[in-house]
Amino acid sequence: MDDDLRKTLTSCIDNIQCLPLTSGMAAYICNSYFTSPIDLIRLTSLDPVLLGRLLHLANSFYDRPAQPVDSAARAIIILGMNTVKNLVISLLPENIVKNEKNNSYYDMYAFWQHSFCVAFTASFFAKKRGFSAEMAEKYFTAGFLHDIGKLLLFRTGEQMPGIDHCQSGELICENWMLENHIKDTIIHHHLYNEYSGEHKDILLSVAVSNYLVNSGDEEAVFLDICKKLGLSGDLVFSIYYDIKSTVEYELQKAELYLKSAGF
Ligand SMILES: [Fe+2]
Ligand SMILES: [Fe+2]
Repeated sequence: MDDDLRKTLTSCIDNIQCLPLTSGMAAYICNSYFTSPIDLIRLTSLDPVLLGRLLHLANSFYDRPAQPVDSAARAIIILGMNTVKNLVISLLPENIVKNEKNNSYYDMYAFWQHSFCVAFTASFFAKKRGFSAEMAEKYFTAGFLHDIGKLLLFRTGEQMPGIDHCQSGELICENWMLENHIKDTIIHHHLYNEYSGEHKDILLSVAVSNYLVNSGDEEAVFLDICKKLGLSGDLVFSIYYDIKSTVEYELQKAELYLKSAGF
């Protein structure tokens, strides 16, 4: 990526706002006198932009905490409710619209739905394999943000020849100082063969979740990811079969919650 292109893209990162589907509830929560930390945790866990920016702010606070912050709950404890509310308000679009499904360039709703399903699939997949709730949270965050680079490409308003969403995502990782497991997943989730770092299991779990959520039809790719995870394709598929309906239930619940703000 040449320097001019990098500058152009980087200058657009601060303009990435929260998603249309979450902006109504975000405005409601930030304007409510009765907002609790639980409301803010729930909200910020339902929008990849809010989550990414929240982690950025928490990790910048006091010159980076001793242990990196990688969950919405910890970030809100560190920052306090008013700071988080102010952050959310700064990320609200000027006009809160019901949805942008007709947007010709990019379907924001589909983006949200895909990110959500990959995040929950990766997280449930980790739990089914015996990982702790704390570890599963890392799988969730990496899954939720894996395609965040698409929002930056969308934000520039034009096609960026030769730049894919993994490259634009890398710029976001640098700008938001995202933790390495999130960064590695964003950069390598399509080129997992090139990766040999320490977050291989998270990266491959997100890659296989991405494949399953997309109902991919290249079986060789699926089997290759499973093999790298050290699992058989049959086992991965049976786990997915077990968790699929729970992911769909969580999706419906989240949509109902976000739409209950009345926007
Ligand atoms: Fe992707
Ligand atoms: Fe994806």
